[in-house]
Amino acid sequence: MCGIVGYIGDKLAQPILLNCLSKLEYRGYDSCGIAMLSNGIEVYKDAVRVEALRKTLPQIKGTTGIGHTRWATHGKPSKLNAHPHLDCNGNIAVVHNGIINNFQQLKRQLISEGHNFVSETDTEVMPHLIEKYYDGNLEKAVEAALRDIEGSYAIIVLAANEPKLVVARKDCPLIIGIGDRGNFGASDVPAILDYTNRVIYLEDGDIGVVTKDSIKIRRDGAEVDRKEHKILWSIKDDQKAGYEHFMLKEIHEQPKVIRDTLGEYTREAEPVADLAVMRDSGIESMLMLACGSSYHVAMIGKYIVEELLGIPVRAELASEFGYFNQTLAKTRAIAITQSGETADTIKAIKRLKEVRCKVLAITNVVGSTASRIADQTIYTRAGPEISVAATKSFIAQLMALYWLAMSYSRIDSRRLTDLILELRHLPTKVQQVLDNEDKLMENATFLSGYENVFFIGRGINFPVALEGALKLKEVAYIHSEGYAAGELKHGPFALLGSNTPVIAIVAHDNTYEAMLTNIKEVRARGSPVMALAEEGDEAIEDLADSVVTVPEVDPMFSPVVNTVALQLLAYYTAKKRDCPIDFPRNLAKSVTVE
Ligand code: G6P
Repeated sequence: MCGIVGYIGDKLAQPILLNCLSKLEYRGYDSCGIAMLSNGIEVYKDAVRVEALRKTLPQIKGTTGIGHTRWATHGKPSKLNAHPHLDCNGNIAVVHNGIINNFQQLKRQLISEGHNFVSETDTEVMPHLIEKYYDGNLEKAVEAALRDIEGSYAIIVLAANEPKLVVARKDCPLIIGIGDRGNFGASDVPAILDYTNRVIYLEDGDIGVVTKDSIKIRRDGAEVDRKEHKILWSIKDDQKAGYEHFMLKEIHEQPKVIRDTLGEYTREAEPVADLAVMRDSGIESMLMLACGSSYHVAMIGKYIVEELLGIPVRAELASEFGYFNQTLAKTRAIAITQSGETADTIKAIKRLKEVRCKVLAITNVVGSTASRIADQTIYTRAGPEISVAATKSFIAQLMALYWLAMSYSRIDSRRLTDLILELRHLPTKVQQVLDNEDKLMENATFLSGYENVFFIGRGINFPVALEGALKLKEVAYIHSEGYAAGELKHGPFALLGSNTPVIAIVAHDNTYEAMLTNIKEVRARGSPVMALAEEGDEAIEDLADSVVTVPEVDPMFSPVVNTVALQLLAYYTAKKRDCPIDFPRNLAKSVTVE
């Protein structure tokens, strides 16, 4: 999704802005650009990668500027549609993340007042509106313009004759970075982490004026104080550390992520959470909401919580939530979101709050919107995840759910002790999966020649099949579908044959026998079968064309080892197919529009 950045300080802004933009690349984008305060405002932009833009730029002297990575919504990727956008005279430049819903109406009005538009974007109304209200005070003009705007925005605005950045947000993330000899505005922390780890998170409705040595934030006309946060991520975290791709690095970080996340929660021998939001003993059900991979975590969470707490759980797509009336008395909601900024998840949390349903957020980003609007937050300790495809954040979210469910578990204490013990061994088990990389590489080579693949699983591993399929389509561009194994015969069987491999996730739980039957059915239709099964499972060797083994774990934890294996499978298949693994086409890391 669009990323924005601004710098004002003592240093040359051009290299800083380009570096910040390269750190925003992970969010997904198709165009980029910068506007610099030099002799007036100079804009350079195009539908190219940041590196390509860098090569075409002259050396610009200024120490103030703004930059943007665009993920097209209104109008195709092109030079004209790329940001920054300017007013008629080129005196006001704007970078924007979000969507202006009433832009057509505003554009018509502005055109009738004599403004000239050059792009198809919604954003372009912004500099023109600011121009309309500008009488020498940029902040006042921005404030007036925003009163006309309906929609979502994080903006950074630059005016030719004022050495300042004006920033504002509504329903889109925006931070101010406090630097050494200058300050920043940015969509997120990784963008500015090379320069500072001191940040202020703006709230909806905030308008900030940032100069090289001052930061003033106002809301509804009155000055407000926003807390400064220290970010614990280090610069090293957003580098590849010798790995070819971030995705591979992040997959390999997972034993550490499990340790860090659990270590954060379970200082003593037992996972005892004491969360105010969970304390109410009258909780009768749970609702888990999320999007993308986080939604698959929610689906797995349903199995975990239902088994350990014995209460019904609904896992729902945040993007589909809220369009019908819900009865939520005695329900606790858990919103799962790596970024803490996914627009649909944020909207769902807000809706739940409206009906007074308590919400616990599980997120990876300290200070993110989800963490600020939920009643309580559990942070995962995955560190910054740069690759668009979620890997380590997925496993960290699962850890948070295991811990939560175990803390409030109603199962007998012997079983709980066994599970806790197993939980502690998970980093070693995951390491064993990583050590089996060669076997997964072999299977990836086989898979890379196909265009359609099914992933099947049952029970707690059905969502793992969905996640495996999602990973493969995201990074390897292979059409893949995750299916509940028993459902294949209700339609997909028509597609099976030698050109459609099936990947079967076989767990040693009460679904095992049925799964073997399903594999036989698939083989009988001529599809090659790759099974993901537990070490020592001899029965499976005779049934599948190829078997990749994962270490033995309690079935409750099988999604962890199986998902890691499928992440590697997707990664190596994508590599074989020469795909741009970390930044798949059309995808965004942080989806800040509905
Ligand atoms: C995007 C990302 C996915 C992620 C999903 C939800 O689609 O590419 O990796 O799972 O958003 O993001 P969240 O930050 O809410 O977990």
